[in-house]
Amino acid sequence: MQALLNTAVKAARKGGETAMRHLQHVHQLKVHTKQPRDFVTKVDLEAEAAIIDSIRERYPDHAFLAEEGGQQGDGEYVWVIDPLDGTTNFIHGFPIFAVSIALRIKGRLTVAVIYDPNRQEIFTAIRGQGAQVDGHRIRVSNRRDLRDTLIGTGFPYRSKEIIQTYTKMLASVLENTAGIRRPGAAALDLAYVAAGRLDGFWEFGLQEWDIAAGSLIVREAGGLISELQGDGDYFRSGNIVVGNPKIHDALRKLLIPHLP
Ligand code: IPD
Ligand code: CA
Ligand code: CA
Repeated sequence: MQALLNTAVKAARKGGETAMRHLQHVHQLKVHTKQPRDFVTKVDLEAEAAIIDSIRERYPDHAFLAEEGGQQGDGEYVWVIDPLDGTTNFIHGFPIFAVSIALRIKGRLTVAVIYDPNRQEIFTAIRGQGAQVDGHRIRVSNRRDLRDTLIGTGFPYRSKEIIQTYTKMLASVLENTAGIRRPGAAALDLAYVAAGRLDGFWEFGLQEWDIAAGSLIVREAGGLISELQGDGDYFRSGNIVVGNPKIHDALRKLLIPHLP
């Protein structure tokens, strides 16, 4: 497993270096709109190619599910990749973005890396072996009272109905916690929950590559991640609530009454 993690770390650093190289001239970059408020630049594509090339060099038979290139190949080993999480931030030169890489072995998330090239922090996990930042063990926070918590979130923008539901949730969380943050890179939000920098997090409509690495890192740090309601597959819906076990529960109870 360690060899697989080393490969993931090396690839994540390559992806991050690509983003940082382009950051100085980011305002000259051509931005393409995939759908409203969903952007892609040549940097996303270049970073993804660098990551995949780096993993392929070591494991030529492995398959990939990557945000820009989709599914490539098939088999027991599938790398799930978001080469640049936080593209909207990136194209504004707003320095909060990350590389997210996870490995599924026979469907099970086994190895995960989230790399923040701005702070040069690397969050990692191997299933059953805990989570780390820069090699130091991390744990979720132990705050138990919602009123003391700092909660992360991501804004929904795909449908009007969700925006209405979300706004009510936002009001409830504002009224009942110490604060809310919306940094703009879901993978890093999850890493921050794992490191105890955020006590909880929720967002609607995420994609598998946004949450694959983060979900393993959070769980290995002692946190919980689930659907907003019930035990459904959060990878399918992309609607997630995350937190230390106490706050995960409390946050869910706060959010669920607002669901339509
Ligand atoms: C986005 C970021 C953002 C989240 C969006 C994602 P991208 O990923 O994670 O925080 O709110 O839902 O799509 O498109 O920048 O890779
Ligand atoms: Ca993303
Ligand atoms: Ca992305």
